[in-house]
Amino acid sequence: MASVCDLKIDLVEVCEAVARACAPFVGSGQKDEGDGLAVDAMRMRINEVPMRGTVVIGEGAKDEAPALYDGEKVGTGKGIGVDIAVDPIEGTNLFAKDMPGSVVTLAAAPEGSMYEPGSCFYMDKQVYSHAARGKIDPAAPIKERLKQLAKATGKDVDELRVFLLDKPRHEEMKQQVYAAGAKVRLATDGDVNGAIQAILGHGVDALFGIGGTPEGIVVACAARAMGAEMFGRMAPQKDFEVELCKKEGIDTKRIIARDELVTSEDVMFIATGLTSGAYVHHVKVGHDDRGKYMTTDTVVLSGSVGDLRQVVTTVHI
Ligand code: FBP
Repeated sequence: MASVCDLKIDLVEVCEAVARACAPFVGSGQKDEGDGLAVDAMRMRINEVPMRGTVVIGEGAKDEAPALYDGEKVGTGKGIGVDIAVDPIEGTNLFAKDMPGSVVTLAAAPEGSMYEPGSCFYMDKQVYSHAARGKIDPAAPIKERLKQLAKATGKDVDELRVFLLDKPRHEEMKQQVYAAGAKVRLATDGDVNGAIQAILGHGVDALFGIGGTPEGIVVACAARAMGAEMFGRMAPQKDFEVELCKKEGIDTKRIIARDELVTSEDVMFIATGLTSGAYVHHVKVGHDDRGKYMTTDTVVLSGSVGDLRQVVTTVHI
């Protein structure tokens, strides 16, 4: 039976092509120019992939950046039906400033299997590694959850580290983590980066806090592929978003489990490094006797039992 995971190489090549297209703008201070090139490159390359793809969740709506549109049909229009969640540049500020944690990211799952968040652009997320799967009560206070996490991972609470976006909205949460005795890793942007660090155990045990919904769906695919734990809750932040969510009857109290965020096990998460990161390297531009080349580093998490592939590709351009 056809599987989304059969499209692995094609979809890796999509992310690599995007990274090469916007690489000249890493550290240029020009995030919109980079984002525009990334979106154009993604649109061009993804339309060569043999699938009936639909962008279920694109990026840009929350900050009016260039984007692939929700509902946009992508691929050749033949083959397996695929839901796509994309963020051509995750962490555009990090990209423009050449700070760690910016990636090209894309997730894929069978048609109809990704959660559709309506007009809610922000999601409150909890992400934990595989060890914590089924062992966390997502509604419990932070102190309690950290105790549960410590038990699940065999650590003491003071050995736990939580990734938070450094935003005023997370101040109280940060104080609660400190009060519980755990540590906090802060970053100005890039909660996909934080979530993947938690999923892969790169010095972080959990990600908490409110970030973009597209990023949340992408991360749910990564969590499912690695057997890790995740919960989401719709958390509109902007006034117009709050209004739209009310109109659409979105329940902002309900905690959504990982397997509702993505209902299939046939999932794939791909991230190609733009800037340096914990799990992928910076895109590299070099020159040799055959001319100019670019090297990209991509991580692919796929299936449901923790398969991880690292793809380093050098292309002369
Ligand atoms: P962009 O790729 O759109 O720049 O997103 C960066 C990011 O930090 C995400 O990782 C995070 O989910 C979201 O922005 C948080 O949004 P905001 O900065 O509006 O609080």
